[in-house]
Amino acid sequence: GRFDVDALDHCDSTNLELARRPQAPSGTVVVADAQSAGRGRRGRTWVSPPGAGLTFSLLWRFNGPAGRPERLSGLSLAVGLAVAQALESLGIAGVRLKWPNDILLQSTDAPLAKLGGILVETSLERSGAAAIIGIGLNLEAPPDPGQPVAALADACRAAGTAPPDRHTVLAAVLSELAQVLDTFARDGFAALRPAWEARHAYQQQRVCLTGEHSRQEGCCLGVDDSGALLIETGAGTERHLVGDLSLRPA
Ligand code: BTN
Repeated sequence: GRFDVDALDHCDSTNLELARRPQAPSGTVVVADAQSAGRGRRGRTWVSPPGAGLTFSLLWRFNGPAGRPERLSGLSLAVGLAVAQALESLGIAGVRLKWPNDILLQSTDAPLAKLGGILVETSLERSGAAAIIGIGLNLEAPPDPGQPVAALADACRAAGTAPPDRHTVLAAVLSELAQVLDTFARDGFAALRPAWEARHAYQQQRVCLTGEHSRQEGCCLGVDDSGALLIETGAGTERHLVGDLSLRPA
């Protein structure tokens, strides 16, 4: 197949583990039952106790123009779309995407909550770029989460279906990723944008985007062909590449 999966009991972080294997071929996957130093976006930690989640990273190379930094800016959105489509293929309804890299779940009996996250780290290579694509999904909700979280087990309980085991989820995500990453490398994020926006949690809603030293409120118009977030303010449409997005009730 196109993937070469290395399953570990534990490691510090599957992203770091792959980064220590610069010679690994494209398609190498490291999956760990537990991580001692799981990493999130913007320096946050990703808690991964044994058995509670599916945590893995995929190394993928983009050759030639497909590896240019401006082409790769929409990669974490493309990956989110692949995860959403994989979960849908397993019969899980209500998966939503939050810019730039969160997987949310809208279930009938609970508020919109985070089901998983994506951490993409890219580096330039002589012939293009290499991306380490890290994905963490909650299979079971942690016992004492600091914020509302969603888990696949809850989604399935609500739907009256048996939760898929982690191997099934991993296989489904890898199979979607193979297709989505091909499309992304060939045609860029533009080709995936309609499917992403169809699952966008905050489309046409009032949002607030906070940066390290900034704060922007407005109506979220979605994303552009490069994956930048579009916010309509009184003064026009602004394009954003970084920040933390939240919903802002009117
Ligand atoms: C986020 O929500 O900020 C992103 C979380 C990404 C977590 C995954 S778990 C597998 C991979 N290894 C890591 O250390 N992080 C990613």
